[in-house]
Amino acid sequence: MIYQVYIQSFADGNGDGVGDIEGLRSRIGYLSALGVDAIWITPWFDSPLRDAGYDVADYRAVHPRYGTVEEARQLIKECHAAGIRVILDIVPNHTSSEHPWFRAALQSSPGSVERSRYHFRAGRDGGESPPNDWLSVFGGPAWTRVDDHGRPGEWYLHLFDASQPDLNWDNQQVRAEFEDILRYWFDLGVDGFRIDVATALVKAPGLPDLGYPDGAFLADLTRPDHPHRDRDEVHDIYRDWRRLADSYDPPRMFAAEAWLDDADRLSRYVRPDELHTTLNLYYIKSAWTAESMRTAIDAAIAATAAVGAPTTWALSNHDVERVVTRYGRADTRRRPGVAGPQLGPVDEQLGRRRARAAALLTLALPGSVYIYQGDELGLADADIPAHARQDPIWTRSGGRRWGRDGARVPLPWTAHGPSYGFGDNGAWLPQPAEWGPHAATAQAGDDSSFLELYRAALRLRRTHPGLARANDLRWHDAPGDVLAFTHSPGFGCVVNFGSTPAPIPLAGRVLLATDTAVAEGLVAPHGAVWLDLEYIPS
Ligand code: GLC
Repeated sequence: MIYQVYIQSFADGNGDGVGDIEGLRSRIGYLSALGVDAIWITPWFDSPLRDAGYDVADYRAVHPRYGTVEEARQLIKECHAAGIRVILDIVPNHTSSEHPWFRAALQSSPGSVERSRYHFRAGRDGGESPPNDWLSVFGGPAWTRVDDHGRPGEWYLHLFDASQPDLNWDNQQVRAEFEDILRYWFDLGVDGFRIDVATALVKAPGLPDLGYPDGAFLADLTRPDHPHRDRDEVHDIYRDWRRLADSYDPPRMFAAEAWLDDADRLSRYVRPDELHTTLNLYYIKSAWTAESMRTAIDAAIAATAAVGAPTTWALSNHDVERVVTRYGRADTRRRPGVAGPQLGPVDEQLGRRRARAAALLTLALPGSVYIYQGDELGLADADIPAHARQDPIWTRSGGRRWGRDGARVPLPWTAHGPSYGFGDNGAWLPQPAEWGPHAATAQAGDDSSFLELYRAALRLRRTHPGLARANDLRWHDAPGDVLAFTHSPGFGCVVNFGSTPAPIPLAGRVLLATDTAVAEGLVAPHGAVWLDLEYIPS
């Protein structure tokens, strides 16, 4: 189980309102008690923080607000001593516009070596219009024009914010530099990397138009021969990275962030000589219905089984609405880049019930599971007032899209105190007034709480023989809005997506249930049970 630490919102050790390494070190005990095998820490590198650190100015330095490289080394040591591996987040598609390379590019001329590390081009229409029709994921064109010697000059490419210029991966210096950065952190003891926007690094020669109508902020990523997503040549980069990871003892690992719908294309990233896992984004995108979840599960297993890689599961991350909020809506699908009231009302109570069932479903699946910090506390998205929003999606869309701040609010650790125990001096994003009861210490020891459900499930996941070795998921007949599956030996999971109690279609003793208030032999509405099977029905 890999726990995603969104560092600025996890725990604040120095009282400046922002999470940091010191805070994280002070909570290793909490992570151990939860049953975490590894943590994935979102970017902590030096950065102007225009996109929460996914805009890196120095890949070998820790941002002073998070700590120092020495503290990072200590953290890694302490995590290892507690049996927890440490995965960092590498951002290879783009640097910050404050990276020394980009500054040098701005100061140099068209055609220079400095500019060749990025994508600089002359504009169309005598330079007035962007070089092609690509759009930024965050809104607006993917190009910004620079000043060349006091006059409007070339344009540079940025698939995200203008402060995140895309690197040119055809440039050998770029490739060498990133291998060196990986080595730097591997040498420090880091166990692996999550690769940000792993599919986007290579662009089509000539940067041809995408051909999408104006206003389509995210183009169809499944389109064959897409000019900036999932190009065949990207795999050469990952083969090189794999060789590097394998040269370490023990070998280091990679997990790709790859928002691809096509299972075959996705599986190419985890071929035996490439990356180890991809983050399973089908699962996040799926609606909370029996049919849709079963389809997503089957697709993910098939995609990775074809190449012999393990499957991964994640219900949320720092880029999407939290599970409680998403599943509290009438339409439970995740919509790209959209969040907030524009998606309609949220029934939080319903969202909570479904999120508990989703936790048991997810933790029963074969492979590795990612848990986004705070999901184990059952947090919902917070309603962030416009003036406090920080996500560039909010500004770049001119306030049309709310952005991702609602899912990034600092964690509540204690029921009281200025920032619910997050730190001594408030929190960088406002926490909701009703968060006290959701605090970690308020939930600990209460068997009906989210936290204890997660802890119990994670304990069983390690100790129950059918779960610890789960790799043989078998579906069983169940009514339309119920999913039932087993693993041998002797484990069963039943999820009721419907709004009335449903008979449990497998014979066994209940190990764990999201709701114990229902009669024996029934699974609660919007609930789930784990079973110790007396026998495996044939
Ligand atoms: C990834 C990150 C996201 C970031 C983007 C640009 O999708 O998860 O938070 O904004 O890449 O780096």
